[in-house]
Amino acid sequence: MKKDFLLDMFSLEGKVALVTGAGRGIGQVIARDLARAGADIAIFSRSGAAATVQLIEEEGGRALDILADCTIEEQVKAGIEKILEVYGRLDIVVNNAGVCYHKDIFEATVAEFREVIDINLTGSYIVAKEAARVMIAAGTKGSIINIASMSGSIVNVPQPQAAYNASKAAVIHMTKSLAVELVEHGIRVNSISPGYIATPMSIDPDFVEPELLAAWQPLFPMHRMGKPEELTGAIIWLCSEASAYTNGADILIDGLYTAL
Ligand SMILES: NC(=O)c1ccc[n+]([C@@H]2O[C@H](COP(=O)([O-])OP(=O)(O)OC[C@H]3O[C@@H](n4cnc5c(N)ncnc54)[C@H](O)[C@@H]3O)[C@@H](O)[C@H]2O)c1
Repeated sequence: MKKDFLLDMFSLEGKVALVTGAGRGIGQVIARDLARAGADIAIFSRSGAAATVQLIEEEGGRALDILADCTIEEQVKAGIEKILEVYGRLDIVVNNAGVCYHKDIFEATVAEFREVIDINLTGSYIVAKEAARVMIAAGTKGSIINIASMSGSIVNVPQPQAAYNASKAAVIHMTKSLAVELVEHGIRVNSISPGYIATPMSIDPDFVEPELLAAWQPLFPMHRMGKPEELTGAIIWLCSEASAYTNGADILIDGLYTAL
């Protein structure tokens, strides 16, 4: 038997991965687990990601904390320049940064609607654009992964979140569109659509009222939310050679939620 089969197939050794919004939540666990799989990590965040860097460095990995708001082109360009300066290459992008507000059509302002679209959709577009530019220039056969949501295919209840749902539906279709545009350059673009995952966005009392958490509980077919680490196996697969023929796909990881 070939002993290194799994490592050869899934290892990210020698690759550089950018994870956006990785200061906490799902992004933090993605950054940690891509580092565990062998990648050098860069993080874009709006207020620093020291805890994530510490987590990775404690385990012997490399991580670079870059202040960059994904919606601001100049900051994204400068951040990617910094990655090239420090690591010399960029192979993987995980567009994870995102926001969600629970407001109905009359509570939410148009500015709030635009903000959600700007961060979840346009921010991912800007980062993908600038990353693909440097991948193409270097001849890198890169992998871009957008964190969408099951909310891109269904309407969550009971909370109103039209902007979020619309933004994630658009992320799924932008993923397919960019995959088609970039295929001739050997760059693959896929998305992951998680169901409810326990993070500040889904359990923090500042964001989710206890009554809402209680209303969600009977809706989980597996009787619980997912954990961020239950997403990272699929993300490592999408980053690695093991998924070389997977392109423009949306991988649903929702604990059966959308099947019912
Ligand atoms: N938690 C869930 O149940 C769930 C389910 C499906 C999809 N998702 C998606 O997963 C991703 C991560 O969610 P999470 O639960 O970890 O949320 P979170 O709120 O814990 O983390 C999101 C991070 O993105 C950062 N961010 C926001 N706007 C940014 C910007 N313009 N530039 C850079 N960073 C920015 C935030 O500061 C935060 O650190 C999001 O895209 C979210 O929509 C989450």
